[in-house]
Formats: sequence, C-alpha cells, structure tokens
Amino acid sequence: MDKKIKPDWAGEDLLSRFVNLLIQTKPIYNVMKSQARQVLIKTAEKKGISWRQNYRELEVSGAKELLETMTNSLVVYPDYYKVPFHAYEEGNLCWQAAFEASAATRAMALRIWPQENISWQTAQDRLRSSFQGVITEYAPRTVRDILDIGCSVGISTLTIHRYYQHKQGKNVRTVGLDLSPYMLAVARILDVNEEISHWIHAKGEKTDFADNSFDLVTLQFIIHELPRQATKEIFQEALRILRPGGCLAVVDNNPASPVIQNLPAALFLLMKSTEPWSDDYYTFDVEVAMQEIGFEYKTTVASDPRHRTIIAIKPTGDL
Ligand SMILES: C[S@@+](CC[C@H](N)C(=O)[O-])C[C@H]1O[C@@H](n2cnc3c(N)ncnc32)[C@H](O)[C@@H]1O
Repeated sequence: MDKKIKPDWAGEDLLSRFVNLLIQTKPIYNVMKSQARQVLIKTAEKKGISWRQNYRELEVSGAKELLETMTNSLVVYPDYYKVPFHAYEEGNLCWQAAFEASAATRAMALRIWPQENISWQTAQDRLRSSFQGVITEYAPRTVRDILDIGCSVGISTLTIHRYYQHKQGKNVRTVGLDLSPYMLAVARILDVNEEISHWIHAKGEKTDFADNSFDLVTLQFIIHELPRQATKEIFQEALRILRPGGCLAVVDNNPASPVIQNLPAALFLLMKSTEPWSDDYYTFDVEVAMQEIGFEYKTTVASDPRHRTIIAIKPTGDL
C-alpha cells in the first residue's frame, strides 16, 4: 500500500469536510474550546510547567511597557493574521497569547514523546537538537548571521543562537523577527543577557534586510499557521536575503507522520479549529514550492515522531 502523505482529516476528504462542518457549528465549538483549554493547562502543570505562575510573572515583568518600542507602526497586518487563532480571539495580537507562549511551547514538546517519562526541559532539548542536527549537515561551514522568522517569544531564536555560538565561538549575530509586537516584547524580556542582536517587528514576506545578508534562515513552527501563498512569499524573501550557499531550514508538523495521521478525533478537531490554515498546510507540497522559487531542495527528515525538518540551499551559481 502507498504511504499516506497527508491525514484524512485534512483537505477535501469526507472526514475532513465533516470536521469543518462541526467547527462551523459555534455552540459545539465554543464548549470544546474552553474544555480543551482547561485540560491543556492542567496537564502542563501536572508535568511541571508553571503555566499560570509564568503568566503572572510576565504580567509584572515590564513587557507591557515595551509594547510601543517593539511596534513598527508601518507594519500592515495581512488578513490571514487577523483571525482568531489558538483559541485567542485576537490571534497572536494580544497579551494572553504572548504570556502563554512559553508554557505552550514547553507543553508542545512534551506531547512528542507521551510514553516517555521525561521532563519538559529534556523534551525541548530533544526537539531543538534534532532540528540542529539536520541543519548542521547542510548549512555553510561558518554561520555568521542567522534570522529566525516567526520567532514568537524567542525560545527558537535563543536556542539556535546558542547552538552556533557554542559550536563556533563568539562570532554569531542572530535576529528574531515576528509579526506580533506582543510576542516580541516578551522575547525581549526573556532575552535577559541581550544575546540576540535585534528583535524585529515585520512580516516575514517583506523584511527590510539587504540582499545576501544571512547564512541561515529558520522557520520553526510558523508555516502550519500560514496560507500557502504567504509561505511562498516568505520563501521568496528568504531566497533574496540569504547569501549564495546559505540555508533555509524549516521545522513543522509532518503530514506523513503516522502519529499526526492517527491523532484521536478530539485532537485533530481541536487542531483544525484553532489553526485556521491547517487544511492548506497539510495539502501543500512545500518541497516543490521551494524549488519553484529557486532554492536547491536538499532533504526532508522526520526529525521527531511528529515533525519534519526541510532543508533548502540558495544556489551559488557554480556549475
Ligand atoms: C508557533 S509560533 C513560532 C514558535 C517559535 N518559532 C518556536 O519554535 O518556538 C508562530 C509565530 O509566527 C508568527 N507569524 C505568523 N505569521 C507571520 C508572518 N507572516 N511573519 C512573521 N511572523 C509571523 C506568529 O506571530 C507567531 O509568533
């Protein structure tokens, strides 16, 4: 039998259409959403993630006072970004989303290895190091400049920065970029030692960076949140700002993963209902899009049981 490349609950399959109908039935959806949230927080706290305490600490951390400084008033939010997301009515454009992002990221890593009795720290390390392992095989030998697009509260940015800093010594300049100034304000607070050069409020589709200015661009868990047209535009922008030989590294949900394909009904329902571009993501041929845009596609690796890492290189022009 052929290997399935996407789950039946995504795309135009009967199951997928039935799920979409349920989601559009507001009373059912609202009950589901609030119950799921309670379960999410309780499960995380049982596993040592201080969800509510973390939230309270961030509320008085000074992040709110940074909002104005972090905001670029010239940014125009695309329509796809202004819809409810992850059960937040204002999507990523609110304090609740920003104050819960660290805890949610820790909980996400723990869900990858449900059978193993590991801490959230171990799960987070494993998740990030499997990604780094794949990048290292393809990225330029010396990485001086890194851009993390969709950096959220900066966990992915700090991790990739420290990895290269440790590997190479002191010569790495890393920039985190996100469309949410709320996320960026929290990122700035969590970057206690100011390891990151800049936290930039911009669209990944249109940065102001010069051509050929980065060796590595990462997209960590952002593209499943985007319509495919936005992803293609971000790839285009990455191609422009990468140096020849530079590496585009994507890590995200793996449509071919048996775990994802066999998610229990309640879970995929929840996932689809809180991430409005899921269907588009799960049916999108990312590798083909990279090549059409002009990247040299290198590999797709199931870097953990739920996620894939995809690597592409900006051609050097050498024959
Ligand atoms: C799931 S979070 C990323 C998590 C983070 N990279 C990590 O690995 O822990 C996705 C982020 O992408 C950002 N985002 C969505 N669309 C974007 C766009 N077009 N340009 C820049 N950032 C975007 C969101 O604001 C959100 O903070």
